[in-house]
Amino acid sequence: MGVLSTKHFIKLEGAPKEDIQHLIDTGLMFKEVLDRPIKKVPSLTGKNVVNLFFENSTRTRMSFELAEKRLSADVTNFSASSSSLNKGESFKDTIQNIHAMKMDCVVMRHPVPGSCLQLTKYVDAIVINAGDGKHEHPTQAMLDMMSLYEKFGYLKGLKVAIIGDISHSRVALSNIHGLITMGAEVTLCGPPHLIPIGIKELGVSVSHDVDEVVEWADVLNILRIQRERMGVGLIPSVREYRDFFGITQERLNRHKKEIVIMHPGPMNRGVEIDSSVADGDQAIILDQVLNGVAVRMSILYSLLGPEEEGKDEKK
Ligand code: CP
Repeated sequence: MGVLSTKHFIKLEGAPKEDIQHLIDTGLMFKEVLDRPIKKVPSLTGKNVVNLFFENSTRTRMSFELAEKRLSADVTNFSASSSSLNKGESFKDTIQNIHAMKMDCVVMRHPVPGSCLQLTKYVDAIVINAGDGKHEHPTQAMLDMMSLYEKFGYLKGLKVAIIGDISHSRVALSNIHGLITMGAEVTLCGPPHLIPIGIKELGVSVSHDVDEVVEWADVLNILRIQRERMGVGLIPSVREYRDFFGITQERLNRHKKEIVIMHPGPMNRGVEIDSSVADGDQAIILDQVLNGVAVRMSILYSLLGPEEEGKDEKK
């Protein structure tokens, strides 16, 4: 088993192909552990991991906690909403107190882009990004790529469409970086004002015609439309969005083709995706969730495991 080229896991921008493939291969190996009657290995015995969540999460938070426990790490959970941050303590002081408790690894979700990189300057511990604002969500993209690799057996040449609000999506950005590095073809689809100007420089195509994209793609990765943004005029109405960009059963039926449906969750059923599509045979949405545990085991083990030597010299 190899090791990664970086000490921390902050972003997929610039991540080498070898690191990504190693994490997928190791994730598939760990997935086998999740099928055993006793779903636990001693790989991270004696390691302390803290999960710092400054934003809401269901999947990522539970998935990291399960992954850490399956690897026998000691786990501490920190929730900003019940912490002394509410008494005015600063982010830096909070982190330094946590650091004084001798943590080996910090998993953090934070609303500010770049906050995980900032954290690496405050602690010696390994930092894993569980989503930093609009920047990246690299472990989500890893589980997405692992799910595709498991399904197809390859990523190179796979046609992946990412549909929705690309501008505000850390999931989209991490997927773009990872998939392009692995040789996949990526098309972004959504309303023009929700696709960043200049994004084609990352090697993707852009379309505003969802039927054209469905006809082209092997895979649709459908993003959540952030209802909280509708009030500020980004989405005129739920109904209009569904008509133009929603992945409905009727739309899929029109194309009569095999296509894999993904969604990182949480879903707005009846907006970006119909229930019959989300629960249908083509969807691998719950496989993504299980693979999330396996690939996070892979990431934790690859960064913290006994075979990871010389990490202090890495960036
Ligand atoms: N996909 C994802 O990040 O979900 P959560 O916000 O529930 O963690």
